[in-house]
Amino acid sequence: NASNHVRIVEVGPRDGLQNEKAMLAAAVKIELIDRLSATGLAIIEATSFVSPKWVPQLADAAEVFRGIRKAPGVVYPVLVPNLQGYERAREVGATEVAVFTAASEAFNRTNINASIDESIERFVPVMERARADGVAVRGYVSTVLGCPYQGEVPVADVVRVARRLHELGCHEISLGDTIGVGTPAKARDMLRAVASEVPMSALAVHFHDTYGQALANILSCLEEGVRVVDSAVSGTGGCPYAKGATGNVASEDVVYMLHGMGMSTGVDLDRLIETGAWLAGQLGKETASRVTRARTAA
Ligand code: HMG
Ligand code: MG
Repeated sequence: NASNHVRIVEVGPRDGLQNEKAMLAAAVKIELIDRLSATGLAIIEATSFVSPKWVPQLADAAEVFRGIRKAPGVVYPVLVPNLQGYERAREVGATEVAVFTAASEAFNRTNINASIDESIERFVPVMERARADGVAVRGYVSTVLGCPYQGEVPVADVVRVARRLHELGCHEISLGDTIGVGTPAKARDMLRAVASEVPMSALAVHFHDTYGQALANILSCLEEGVRVVDSAVSGTGGCPYAKGATGNVASEDVVYMLHGMGMSTGVDLDRLIETGAWLAGQLGKETASRVTRARTAA
């Protein structure tokens, strides 16, 4: 892939906030998304219409989605686990959604109380409705480089689930290293195997930075041809049902690396840094972004 442009999918308001101890008020989440909208990001995953019993942090999904300013040229996808989530999302006007499953049975059972096949069965009516409504659906595959319960995850399982989601009609498949255990050569090999069955242009990578490998993994996947990267401002987040998982790679650090490589993102790094520093203040913790730490050091 010769393209120099990388599409950043900002997942901070969803993946970032679903696992934070601090419960932010809806108004703060709305301000976060509005600030992100002003940085040049074109895709901001806004929230998640999952069961509020499972993820109380995002129980205010409807209020948040309604409250955000929908900036022209920005799309605000939301996570939905089933038809009930899809309906809640549509009620407040969501125009893009994301379904999610995993390459590991053990993780899926813990995260969404279903086997891989059962979860995909739940997506069928969601996909049908979305097609009729003209709603684009992204598909996530979790645990692509390791599972907190099962350990190793065979690449063939990742390929199978990714292909299935693509066949079902997901326009983009995001490959998630949920617990951040991957290393660059493994990430590249996994991506290459998936790209033999799903076009590279329909793939995205989603790295958590638990072991500090995320930027290195992203680089190896860029070299392989991927041009869509998920990240979270200030490096927040993690999956509450993936034991030990820490935050996503920080958007600031990804944008800094890409711009340093002469690639374009459309994102204003200074504004992103300001937003990340502001969010860290709201959460009452230090930012996980190395770039933000470097730039805001006294
Ligand atoms: P379940 O308990 O098996 O669901 O949970 P159920 O269908 O039996 O329903 C039980 C109750 O939940 C019922 O309410 C339903 O109405 C309600 P009750 O009758 O008991 O009062 N319910 C809902 N309520 C609101 N919205 C809904 C909804 N669905 C059912 N959409 C379920 C199954 C999937 C719902 C649950 O397991 C769940 O919500 N899990 C979400 C877990 C989650 O959000 N994890 C984090 C996101 S995944 C992630 O972070 C990974 C990713 O970032 C990529 C990566 O890093 O790898 C994407
Ligand atoms: Mg994630």
